[in-house]
Amino acid sequence: MKDYKDRIMTGERLDSDEAFAETSLRPKRLDAYIGQKNVTDNLRVFIDAARMRDEPLDHVLFYGPPGLGKTTLAGIIANELGVELRITSGPAIERAGDLAALLTNLNDRDVLFIDEIHRLNRSVEEVLYSAMEDYAIDIIIGKGPSARSIRIDLGKFTLIGATTRAGSLSAPLRDRFGVISKFEMYRADELKRIIGRSAELLRVAIDERSQTELALRSRGTPRVANRLLKRVRDFCQVRGSGRIDIEITRHTLDSLGIDEKGLEGLDRDILRLIIERFDGGPVGIDTIAAAIGEERVTIEDVYEPYLMQVGYLHRTQKGRVVSRDAYAHLGLKAPDLPENPQISIFEEESSQ
Ligand code: ADE
Repeated sequence: MKDYKDRIMTGERLDSDEAFAETSLRPKRLDAYIGQKNVTDNLRVFIDAARMRDEPLDHVLFYGPPGLGKTTLAGIIANELGVELRITSGPAIERAGDLAALLTNLNDRDVLFIDEIHRLNRSVEEVLYSAMEDYAIDIIIGKGPSARSIRIDLGKFTLIGATTRAGSLSAPLRDRFGVISKFEMYRADELKRIIGRSAELLRVAIDERSQTELALRSRGTPRVANRLLKRVRDFCQVRGSGRIDIEITRHTLDSLGIDEKGLEGLDRDILRLIIERFDGGPVGIDTIAAAIGEERVTIEDVYEPYLMQVGYLHRTQKGRVVSRDAYAHLGLKAPDLPENPQISIFEEESSQ
């Protein structure tokens, strides 16, 4: 079975990202953060207002595909507020006691970042409700008839939750966030600026055409852009001159099997599967998952967002369908149907 963790194009964080893209290249201030203007413009106001009132920033929920800078922005918020940032994730908090330990260590205004917040278990989530609402938690001490509940007051902290699937959050949790922001995929011009900035930080020279080429093939995701830049830099160092040019960039991307739209083997496998085995769809997501050998959530969260973004795949009530453009991209002839028949026949399925 192919493992999507090996994919260079995944927006999900890989261990190899840490030293490079994730730590040294993360912008630290809001001014240096490129893109997501809808999110940052509002946040700037909320941060300033909270600071002026000397109050904690309201709890913030970020949602959107992986690799778009949710953790980075959480770090920036803490920085702009001049407070500590604690980072954890839904699956890492196994018991209510783990969360209580985290919460009781927070000071006023501190930021607690919980990645993959949709994966918190129920008992942990319930502790979070009162923490978010009242800045207090109730802990049960002892067992049986002598058990009693004590209330512990917490610092007036800000929770920043991040999720790839806002629809998987329970309503009570979602309702406790004062700010809910959706992250969009980046435009090529934004990615180009990010690549230029990263190259500068890495002290590697790169020409403009290469920046454009990398931007166009990074599937709207800065984490992918930075990862590809790193690979091109490797090729450049070993084989080329000291400067990243278009030849070495194309050579690297071709060697990695990344096509001009930023699709790699597994993306094309999905499209080809739907076309060749299911006549272009509609086909259910579970059927695709079984045939490709991936988990359904992985296909939904990691593969599909970009395939939909470029218009090669649509989610419909009856299942997934590929577009005429997908046929063309794979060099296949689309069946003789009216323009975009799938979209006009079926309504968009919810992302759930
Ligand atoms: N590096 C990764 N994401 C970035 C962003 N949105 N702005 C600037 N640099 C980045």
